[in-house]
Amino acid sequence: TSHAQAGSLRKAPLIVSHRGASAYAPENTLASIDKAAAMGFGWVENDVQRTKDGELVVLHDASLARTTDVKKVYPHRAPWKVKDFTAAEVARLDAGSWFGPRYAGTRVPTLKQYMNRVSHNHQKLVLEIKNPELYPGIERETLKVLSNEGWLDPDHLRNRLVVQSFSERSVRTVHELRPGITTAFLGKPSVARLHEYARFADLINPDHASLSADYVSAVHSLVGPHSRPMEVFAWTIDAANTARRLAGYGVDGVITNKPDVIRSALQQT
Ligand code: G3P
Ligand code: CA
Repeated sequence: TSHAQAGSLRKAPLIVSHRGASAYAPENTLASIDKAAAMGFGWVENDVQRTKDGELVVLHDASLARTTDVKKVYPHRAPWKVKDFTAAEVARLDAGSWFGPRYAGTRVPTLKQYMNRVSHNHQKLVLEIKNPELYPGIERETLKVLSNEGWLDPDHLRNRLVVQSFSERSVRTVHELRPGITTAFLGKPSVARLHEYARFADLINPDHASLSADYVSAVHSLVGPHSRPMEVFAWTIDAANTARRLAGYGVDGVITNKPDVIRSALQQT
């Protein structure tokens, strides 16, 4: 079809392993990025939050309850928000057993530990600042860790790092603190408002369910803060047919828990 032909002329979308290869290893752990690396995937996504005593850690939910054994270890501290636990308390938790016994003893990584492993694996990172309204100042602190770990060097800035958030304010703050960083806004602003986002966001990353070819074209027609056409990474796509449809829309990236499924789907187009 003409649709497929148009798709085949474009670059294939980048595949980003969501919370690591999180269908196959516990999300947001070193095991999940190692798994992505072992499957041959460079780009991984994570979520950054903060402990009570100011350590940045990699965790998706505001609470530790779903992805660790915190309820067992600290039964009287409901609702087990990570912001109410110290780094030492978090370091004691098991963040792997909930996923499967072979991951027993896997820890919630600090951002520093996580960045070390991403570097070691020669991977690339879409870093999400999660729930920033709970953590005043987290943008500056995140950039400090990235800087200490060498992730704000020119090569990294150009090729290996995207910082994203659902919070427009957080994305703006990151752009203002360090204008060289590639930034993404998570969500789907109206087409009429996209030009406002073009001042501080290089990418618009919407839920795939709300996406259309026209919307992707509208984003592509704008130029972002680094004088490049704006791009679209869609999430979270685990089905082959959805990935093929979105590739037809021209999305630049697909964020997925099952990078292997998406790779084979896109090779077949
Ligand atoms: O990277 C996009 C995606 O991660 C946003 O949703 O809830 O998985 O952080 P969530
Ligand atoms: Ca995320």
